[in-house]
Amino acid sequence: MDGFLFIAFPYIALILAIGVGIYRRRRRPYTYSSLSSQILENRKLFWGSVPWHYGITLILLAHLFAALFPGLAGWVLGGRIRLLVLELTGIALAFYALFGLIVLIIRRLPSNSRVRHATSYMDGILLGFFLIQVATGLGIAIFERWGSLWYLRTAVPWFWSLVKLHPEIATVTSLPGIVKLHFVLGFAIILLFPFSRLVHLVMFPLQYLWRPYQVVVWNRRGRKVTAESTEVMR
Ligand code: HEM
Repeated sequence: MDGFLFIAFPYIALILAIGVGIYRRRRRPYTYSSLSSQILENRKLFWGSVPWHYGITLILLAHLFAALFPGLAGWVLGGRIRLLVLELTGIALAFYALFGLIVLIIRRLPSNSRVRHATSYMDGILLGFFLIQVATGLGIAIFERWGSLWYLRTAVPWFWSLVKLHPEIATVTSLPGIVKLHFVLGFAIILLFPFSRLVHLVMFPLQYLWRPYQVVVWNRRGRKVTAESTEVMR
């Protein structure tokens, strides 16, 4: 079982994420979006989206930084005070992200709300996975102390062994269940990437920098359409 979860599953998740991601981008480019629901409800979206995005982005950047530069991360975490400050910062950010996520979930719950009608099964699955992932991450940070340090000796060698196509899972198979669940769910979220609105992560709207302004005009009955008004709608 461990062989499947820590060798086959990460490869399957990555291959599908990249393969299906490219396929969807080519075949259905206009679905490559976060499918904003801001027009349906804005207030709760603000209170949910801002904490969620700031919190989770900083946490994931920390995950990535430690995986890419384990030597530097080990040096930074080497001092007791620095380790304590960084661990507490991680926990605070996780609570911040969790607060945002809960607001985002509550926003989509009422069965008579407009946002609920615009919510797909996949949105529900994604939010559920995020909730479990943040909760297990927090659980690890609080109950399996100094995760930022042992991550360097367990998950990071495992990641690099997968990259080098020489999978080595001994460093992760003996970890507690909650940690293994967090690792496997991390790859499950990567797997969901091309099947959900997560695709918006790789969309940088750079063309907005040079695209002409879009001016939205009401098309009321009887309004005379002039060459000028059609020009601004371009
Ligand atoms: C396979 C990929 C992943 C691995 C190996 C991993 C590993 C870890 C470890 C070891 C910790 C404990 C850090 C500490 O105690 O300071 C942690 C915490 C956390 N993780 Fe992950 N993680 C992965 C993916 C993810 C993903 C995809 C998310 C969110 C979408 C996530 C969200 C969190 C959160 C919110 C925390 C608590 C905050 C913190 O202490 O950094 N993780 N993760």
